[in-house]
Amino acid sequence: MLAKKTIVLGITGSIAAYKAANIASELTQAGARVEVVMTESATRFITPLTLRSLTGRPVVTDMFEPATEYSLEHVALAEAANVVVIAPATANTIAKLAAGIADDMLTCTVLATNAPVILAPAMHASMLQNPVTQDNLAKLKARGFTIVEPGYGHLASGKAGWGRLADIETIIGTIKQVLGRKDDLSGKRIVVTAGGTQEPIDPVRHIGNRSSGKMGYAVAEAARDRGATVTLISAPTSLPEPVGTVVVQVQTASQMKEAVAKAAARADVLIMAAAVADYQPKDTAKNKIKKETPDLTLELVRTPDILAEVKGDFIRVGFAAESENLVANAKQKLQKKQLDLIIANDITSTGSGFGADTNQVTLIDRKGKVESLPLLTKREVADRILDKVVKLF
Ligand code: C5P
Repeated sequence: MLAKKTIVLGITGSIAAYKAANIASELTQAGARVEVVMTESATRFITPLTLRSLTGRPVVTDMFEPATEYSLEHVALAEAANVVVIAPATANTIAKLAAGIADDMLTCTVLATNAPVILAPAMHASMLQNPVTQDNLAKLKARGFTIVEPGYGHLASGKAGWGRLADIETIIGTIKQVLGRKDDLSGKRIVVTAGGTQEPIDPVRHIGNRSSGKMGYAVAEAARDRGATVTLISAPTSLPEPVGTVVVQVQTASQMKEAVAKAAARADVLIMAAAVADYQPKDTAKNKIKKETPDLTLELVRTPDILAEVKGDFIRVGFAAESENLVANAKQKLQKKQLDLIIANDITSTGSGFGADTNQVTLIDRKGKVESLPLLTKREVADRILDKVVKLF
């Protein structure tokens, strides 16, 4: 997704400028061509040499210094860019952009580009909260700029407040999302479920399963990167919420069913990667069950089968975690749940299944076509699933 993309990374004079080195490094490692443009004051905080070393590309600082192929022609960089990201963006640069001022290479590039522009502001809380900065941000937002909202935390002044540069993951997630807007899932609404549901026994205990949520989260991120509008309905996991998706947190199978039914009403695709409990305690004890009784019998009842029960005109994709007769069991599920595609997962094979970062799956479609994939990262599996979904439209 980032590979071979030209990303103009603008760095302005905030103390957070040093964090831009990590952004440049991560984007370069992901295969992007990172063209760094620094304002004069940014060079006081971090040297162009650092950025040049990390990106392997010359760094533009001065419009009138023909140090690179781009500085010869002030709009060349603007035309080459797939996306322009300014991180950190100071109040000063934001104000100049809002006013259309182009007095350095960075503001010139932004004024001249047709590429999407992302701003990650970083400044002292009082500068951020000043109505003039807020007006400028609102103006730029209305013109289609994407603003990665600054966070709350320790500021260079020593005080805590709003104005901290957003997390690197959030900035990079936003870049991926913006680059994906024109991709093959652009305009599609995709609902993804992930994680393992928890069915409460009492206020302390629940029946759960070993799902980590990694597969579903990878599907949600991949769909986002390919331009889809993603709703991720997540049972409890320890994973960070993917940037640029709408996340609905649920606990139980019944809550998940409700959330899926609501989201699926407007969906083009439903991908059920969640490990949904098949049984729930008939009653949930109001108070913690004491261990005075030597043995405890729980009465369990079936949970709703979400895939089978939620009806609508959308592509339906299910998962089948199996420990035996993989293909036969998965085919049966595909029929029973009226699916368009099922991803069969042998949970006994090494490197696959719960908690792993890799997965080895077999894709089976409605026509009975069986395709076994090699061991891949969950992100690669996610993209292969979405390749199939694209063909199903
Ligand atoms: O029947 P089984 O639970 O093995 O099917 C797995 C598939 O069905 C998964 O896609 C899972 O998310 C979905 N499922 C469901 N509702 C349930 C149980 C599973 O939608 N109650």
